Amino acid sequence: MMVRISKQTGLQPEDLGYPGDSYQNLPDMNRIKADHPLKKSMSEEYILGIWDGHDSGAAIVRSNEILYALNEERLSRRKLEIGFPKLAIAAMLDRLKLTPESISQVAVSTSDFAKTLTRFFPSMKEEYYKIRRRKKRPGLLTPIKKRVKYTLTEWPPTGISRNLTRRLVRKELDKCGLKNYELHIVDHHLCHATGAAYCSGFEKAAVITLDGIGDAISGSVSRFEDGQLERLSTISGKESLGIFFEHVTNLMNMRELEDEGKVMALSTYAYPLPDDQNPMLDWFQVDGLTLHARYGSQRTYQQLKELLWQFPSEQFAYMAQRTLEVKVVELVRNAVRQLKTECVALAGGIFANIQVNRLIRLLPEVKGCFVFPHMGDGGLALGAALSLNAVRNGVTSYPFKQIYFGLDFTDEEMEAAIREFGFPYTREADIVKTVGELADSGSIGLWLQGRMEFGPRALGARSIIAHPGREKIKDDLNLRLKRRVWYQPFCPSMLQSTAERIFYDFHGQSDPFMTNAYLVKEEFRDQVRGVIAIDGTCRPQIVSEDTPTSPKFKELLKEMESRTGLGVILNTSFNLHGEPLVCSPSDALRTLRETKADYLVLGDFLVRLPV
Ligand SMILES: [Fe+2]
Repeated sequence: MMVRISKQTGLQPEDLGYPGDSYQNLPDMNRIKADHPLKKSMSEEYILGIWDGHDSGAAIVRSNEILYALNEERLSRRKLEIGFPKLAIAAMLDRLKLTPESISQVAVSTSDFAKTLTRFFPSMKEEYYKIRRRKKRPGLLTPIKKRVKYTLTEWPPTGISRNLTRRLVRKELDKCGLKNYELHIVDHHLCHATGAAYCSGFEKAAVITLDGIGDAISGSVSRFEDGQLERLSTISGKESLGIFFEHVTNLMNMRELEDEGKVMALSTYAYPLPDDQNPMLDWFQVDGLTLHARYGSQRTYQQLKELLWQFPSEQFAYMAQRTLEVKVVELVRNAVRQLKTECVALAGGIFANIQVNRLIRLLPEVKGCFVFPHMGDGGLALGAALSLNAVRNGVTSYPFKQIYFGLDFTDEEMEAAIREFGFPYTREADIVKTVGELADSGSIGLWLQGRMEFGPRALGARSIIAHPGREKIKDDLNLRLKRRVWYQPFCPSMLQSTAERIFYDFHGQSDPFMTNAYLVKEEFRDQVRGVIAIDGTCRPQIVSEDTPTSPKFKELLKEMESRTGLGVILNTSFNLHGEPLVCSPSDALRTLRETKADYLVLGDFLVRLPV
């Protein structure tokens, strides 16, 4: 059945979603082309998007501009925060010099039964959060509770869950000082899809969302054309590839919803197993634009358990990774063929998997591949705001050149923070040259410049930087700062001119958000050995001449080029092990103190620990 994004009725006329059992269609408000007359009278209202689940956050958009997008973890300092994003809302309003009453439109994502239940009983999600993050030991009842959780997430939104959501979210927003605002509930996968479609810069694309589960579904395929988004199919939450991979992560004693990248990294160490010996491949069947699973979520978990004892860990990881790759690529191929398009826009947690993304990017029928940079649920708040802005103001295009949507700090604030910590510092006349020298000499540095990046990847605003070619850099970084698993590689940032030289598979499409993998040519691997995986691939931030970066970051890449012949630097996220990316100068200084890194750059200030 072909359905269109519509302004929904259901129990409340202002919700946005796709027609479901309890929805009725209203005239489609989203069929608004970019040149629609409405755009000329675009309102100047501020639209607030919020997400109050895993990696909660908030975003503010106005007319055709994304003003701020910020995740709560950066302020609460709890990685992948689950609480209501009250700090993010307050910080954004403060920076915009707005009162809470200035917000007249709010969009919140997701109103399924399980999500609503945790809004009603926040202690439930707090307990799950602590156990999942290994902050609390699982109790005897934990496996049962987990099973119940997976079952409840499969229950779709109802009139009751939406009404409750509205009441509970309003209560929280009222505490933030908001008054006289309209509240809209936006379908979970619609948020993922609008983020991917509207920010892709494509006029026409197949939009594919795949995740664990949200509003009872785990994926969707939509057509995006001339600003219009049509959902063509869904994948049931009971047949979720995302939950399959969550189970794999969990069974390998890693943290689901957080360590899936480690499973992918470990898989590269396995001897490839022939597909006909990989039973996981038979558990999922791609059928046109949808997918069917042989087992439900619980049975899949049991089946995985049955396999796990028979294989070494890396082989088990390989089998799961291979299954994900084969099935997602098949789905994407079907979508591209059926929609007669050469472009794909992707979102949802599965597309954090850069090896899957690489296979999609290299498909001969795919000419453009855009991955929404905050592909997981942390991007839902912005997706909700964009969905609402499309309906109200007809804006359906925000081609992403840069995603520095977070907070920034003045020189005065930085200097005051340094003085408070009492660390020696200098104000450098040429910070880029100084850092180039330090990196060249083997030092590991912390780097904070300009507005914080949006999403999980450090993009040169809050980064740990080092020379990419040192033999021992990975061990040094791990022992002193990051404490990552040994098989997970660090990533590089590089100039596009370098990418053109060192990759076999770079075909000229700028890739500034670290969402894809590329294969380094044999002859360059030694020069970048600190930032490649064992299979020779890496996950680069590729910066072209016209890509905006954080202040001085492009100059730093050029400085490295003049020193080493390659415009590359190791760039990993600026955080303490287990903490979110740093946000403020104080976070940065605390990290310097605790990690004993060689130096910290705050704007033009160079800070070192007292000897
Ligand atoms: Fe999601």
